[in-house]
Amino acid sequence: MNFNLAVVAGDGIGPEVMEQNIRVLDKIGEKFGHSFKYEHVLGGGCAIDKFGEPLPQHTIDVCKASDSVLLGAVGGWQWDTLPGDKRPERALLGLRGALGLYANLRPATLHEALKDACPLKPELVADGVDIMVVRELTGGMYFGEKGRKQTELGEAAYDVEQYSVKEVERITRTAFEIARKRKKHVTNVDKQNVLESSRLWRSVVLEVAKDYPDVELDHLYVDNASMQLIMRPTTFDVIVTGNIFGDILSDEASQMTGSIGMLPSASLGEGSLGMYEPVHGSAPDIAGKNIANPIATILSGAMMLKYSFGLQDESKAIEDAVAKVLNNGYRTGDIMSEGMKQLGCKEMADAILAEI
Ligand code: IPM
Ligand code: MN
Repeated sequence: MNFNLAVVAGDGIGPEVMEQNIRVLDKIGEKFGHSFKYEHVLGGGCAIDKFGEPLPQHTIDVCKASDSVLLGAVGGWQWDTLPGDKRPERALLGLRGALGLYANLRPATLHEALKDACPLKPELVADGVDIMVVRELTGGMYFGEKGRKQTELGEAAYDVEQYSVKEVERITRTAFEIARKRKKHVTNVDKQNVLESSRLWRSVVLEVAKDYPDVELDHLYVDNASMQLIMRPTTFDVIVTGNIFGDILSDEASQMTGSIGMLPSASLGEGSLGMYEPVHGSAPDIAGKNIANPIATILSGAMMLKYSFGLQDESKAIEDAVAKVLNNGYRTGDIMSEGMKQLGCKEMADAILAEI
């Protein structure tokens, strides 16, 4: 099969981890008889520098016309003082919105070989961590009305947390469908003891759940969820939650895996077009030094093969290669521990390529 991919490598370590991702995909193409064509477009800080805006229309058009989008990372200190709608992050949010990618899948899996890199006590993760955070991605306060106004306490700012029934319904269905292919357990995370938007959220989740009697459902308030994740990480399967809670909880979950450099993500909408990116940011402090961990980005490529193109074997070939390399004791700096062999970004990809 032939696939046209839009590539938004972005800023900081984005381009270097993306380069490794492309090498791995090309190897998969060679082995399984597929061809990937890449169209590189600018988004984030590099687009601001070149075109004066983080998300040029051309980038949106190329992404929309592609079979899927690969994204590296955006942002950096150079652009930190720009107003909100001109910041590099707008590229990410704009693409999520423009492509209708409302479902963000963030799997946090602790590799057997990385148990030492997990900061939790060994007995807490002895049963293995395998959590899928299903984060709503195009609603909530990220996309709600925002602004400034005068109050009796002086200037104030607001970001409205708003969710419609339809938005909650579709993300809940995504979560239940995924749970059916896993351990059939969904944990809904909200704050319905305080927030009206969460009360609507909870009621819709309960309605949708009626269509999935085979899947166990429980509910946690977000504050409690952040605590339970640390205390009993092995008891979670699928977590479904809103945009801002999912942003925070997925970073927390990433630590169970040893490093945020291990966490891939998929952003999906109604069709097969998805956007695939590591959960980590652009890490400008280590950019260009060939020390970044490319695994999160490479595993995002594997998620693309599985979720957008239905190529299960190809996807598994990447995941298995990553597991083998870790089992063989190879590490990047972020997951390094005593007695292991430390590799650079490119060399880690070389090791993965050798196992495919
Ligand atoms: C993420 C990031 C983004 C988010 C930022 C960079 C806009 O933190 O993908 O988790 O908050 O969604
Ligand atoms: Mn985040």
